Amino acid sequence: MASEKSKILIIGGTGYIGKFIVAASARSGHPTFALVRSTTAPADQPAKAKLLSDFQAAGVTPVQGDLYDHESLVKAIKQVDVVISTVGFMQLNDQTKIIDAIKDAGGHIKRFLPSEFGVDVDRNNAVEPAKSTFVIKAQIRRAAEASGIPYTFVSSNFFAGYFLPALGQAEATDLPTDKVVILGDGNPKAIFLNEDDIGTYTIKAVDDPRTLNRVLYLRPPANILSHNELVSLWEKKTGKTFERVYVPEEQVLKQIQEAPLPVNVMLALCHSAFVKGDHVFNIDPSFGVEASELYPDVKYTTVDEYLNRFL
Ligand SMILES: NC(=O)c1ccc[n+]([C@@H]2O[C@H](COP(=O)([O-])OP(=O)(O)OC[C@H]3O[C@@H](n4cnc5c(N)ncnc54)[C@H](OP(=O)(O)O)[C@@H]3O)[C@@H](O)[C@H]2O)c1
Repeated sequence: MASEKSKILIIGGTGYIGKFIVAASARSGHPTFALVRSTTAPADQPAKAKLLSDFQAAGVTPVQGDLYDHESLVKAIKQVDVVISTVGFMQLNDQTKIIDAIKDAGGHIKRFLPSEFGVDVDRNNAVEPAKSTFVIKAQIRRAAEASGIPYTFVSSNFFAGYFLPALGQAEATDLPTDKVVILGDGNPKAIFLNEDDIGTYTIKAVDDPRTLNRVLYLRPPANILSHNELVSLWEKKTGKTFERVYVPEEQVLKQIQEAPLPVNVMLALCHSAFVKGDHVFNIDPSFGVEASELYPDVKYTTVDEYLNRFL
């Protein structure tokens, strides 16, 4: 029964990935609450106002609050059973404020999911500037573990909307026309997730005892592809052949050091996945579970299907 489903608060629900998680929560019948700041929808950002009206249409309850207003957080958290954070880069470190508010709200929270949604921050070979962001997320993991609050960490690997529109090329903003730049030899496997599916899997996990105090890895089998395989798939669809320009790792590392923000971040994330193969390793049941195995009923969007959008 819908009424038995946990009440979910999303902090950061008006952000890029947060809106998909809010939508998935509402879609699956969870009473859904989104923390909204007084500044969330300024007059010059009609897209945010539209998002808030979409939330309303989906039955989402907006709750006024701010990460930096402790009382507002405690008040919001008191109304729910589960807290999901999808705050962005600038607020990652301050998620200790959410942990403090969960404690002050009475310790009733059944699950806390901090803002992760990427590579496993405890198991990767990322270099700066990606590395220090992963270190902050790992510190939030340690704070969540030490707090005694039940948690799940979601490792969703690459957002499709970030990495597929330029076919995995770190420095490009569009699909290749003649050449495609591949970091390393293009053979390590990376994992791509449609954002709707990240929402669906995340929400399925919140009431699941199998994901309690574990990392939930999103690794749908059809979406595990090397950069070479991704290019071949696109070549097959378009009937074109692209010249593959391979960049040796030493050169990639040099480019990362020399590139401006945010290109250096993108390069470092692609280096971690495409050169170091950080998305794929053995998941030991002592620390993790895999989403497509837990929820085989989810009809996820494959990379093959996703690329059809660009034809
Ligand atoms: N795997 C990937 O490919 C990938 C790609 C991108 C991001 N990520 C990860 O996804 C997570 C979310 O990132 P994102 O890019 O979706 O974030 P984002 O778009 O920057 O959204 C940030 C959210 O935090 C909210 N926020 C900011 N300051 C706040 C405050 N003081 N109090 C309460 N809420 C506040 C924003 O609210 P307003 O609307 O009011 O500003 C917004 O809802 C991060 O952990 C990031 O590293 C992963």
